[in-house]
Amino acid sequence: MDTRLPEPDDAAKADSLALSRRLADEIEACGGWMSFARYMELALHCPGLGYYGGGSRKFGASTEGGDFVTAPEITPLFGQALARQVGPIMAAAAAPMVLEVGAGSGRLAADLLTALRASGATPAQYLILELSGELRARQRDTLAEAVPELLDRVVWLDHLPERFSGCVLGNELLDAMPVHAVAWRDDGLKERGVTLDKGQFAWSERPAADFLVDAAAEIPAQAPYASELGLVAAGWAAAWGERLAKGALLLIDYGLPRHEYYHPSRNGGTLRCHYRHRSHDDPFWWPGLSDITAHVDFTAIAEAGHGAGLDVLGYTSQANFLINCGLGDLVAARHEASEASGLRASSATQMLISPNEMGELFKVIALGRGVATPLIGFARGDRLHTL
Ligand SMILES: C[S@@+](CC[C@H](N)C(=O)[O-])C[C@H]1O[C@@H](n2cnc3c(N)ncnc32)[C@H](O)[C@@H]1O
Repeated sequence: MDTRLPEPDDAAKADSLALSRRLADEIEACGGWMSFARYMELALHCPGLGYYGGGSRKFGASTEGGDFVTAPEITPLFGQALARQVGPIMAAAAAPMVLEVGAGSGRLAADLLTALRASGATPAQYLILELSGELRARQRDTLAEAVPELLDRVVWLDHLPERFSGCVLGNELLDAMPVHAVAWRDDGLKERGVTLDKGQFAWSERPAADFLVDAAAEIPAQAPYASELGLVAAGWAAAWGERLAKGALLLIDYGLPRHEYYHPSRNGGTLRCHYRHRSHDDPFWWPGLSDITAHVDFTAIAEAGHGAGLDVLGYTSQANFLINCGLGDLVAARHEASEASGLRASSATQMLISPNEMGELFKVIALGRGVATPLIGFARGDRLHTL
């Protein structure tokens, strides 16, 4: 297998150099050192230049210039299965509202709206909060093509609502939130940041500030050990304690409970970069051209939600969740429709539920308030006890 990264074209390199100058200026203005969390924030979201803030293709096949595919890009069955949980959450909240945060190409929104309408549970409004201007435009195009008659129900927000009732969705959202890079050393906890070494970005450690030491207090890592702290994702989950009046958040992502996340064997952390379907570990390679991600510490998300007054309604693997939501029936219906569509559905389903693909690595967590009925997605195989 060829593991070399494809050479970016000249236009992409020029954008990356402009972002690099922006990063270098800020590093110099801060005295020569920048937190990795800030580097990741700019590399992903710097307006016009960051990975999501700029114009790169992101989703889809590498032949189309894409860097990765997500579950809704693989098959509409993902949104159809999810709809079977979203509908009951809206009903339990007595609020026919969906808020999708980080809606990517708009594929999931289109599939969900189609499935919810077919089941008689069309949301009164489908809100989308998306930081990327380029993706907002793509979302509008996707929805205008797939569900033109429902487009007037879709509203793009600039920030999270003060109060919300209904169902909040985030698929592969939390892994895109900036992480603090930290290292346990013999002389204490360090924060791994970014400096300039002969004009190139390079890792550099300094003693960790108190808020990082506090956040790492429960982590049983032994020096030498490097990993990440997902404080931004946990803070985002905690913020829903004030905002969620009634309903639930469904957050789907790759990640682990804390005891597995910080397992001694995972001593280099979980930071990964994605470029043209190659995964690499150098966040300083052409900044802004690769997606930068880290696994989600689901224990931290559950603690943040619980600490903010939300109920932790369920936690399980993506495979269990989708099967509980009736993915098998959806595939069977495709087989009845035609052999070809059945075969396509079976092969896509394998990617979603196989333990070697997304089935085990991806998890689903639900945080909620005022939802009395159990969620069907966690009916079998709930793993709350592992958090
Ligand atoms: C890996 S993509 C997943 C997209 C989509 N949910 C899917 O499954 O195809 C991450 C998405 O989250 C968005 N995003 C990242 N951080 C965000 C934040 N703090 N608020 C809103 N959107 C965010 C990105 O712009 C992008 O749309």
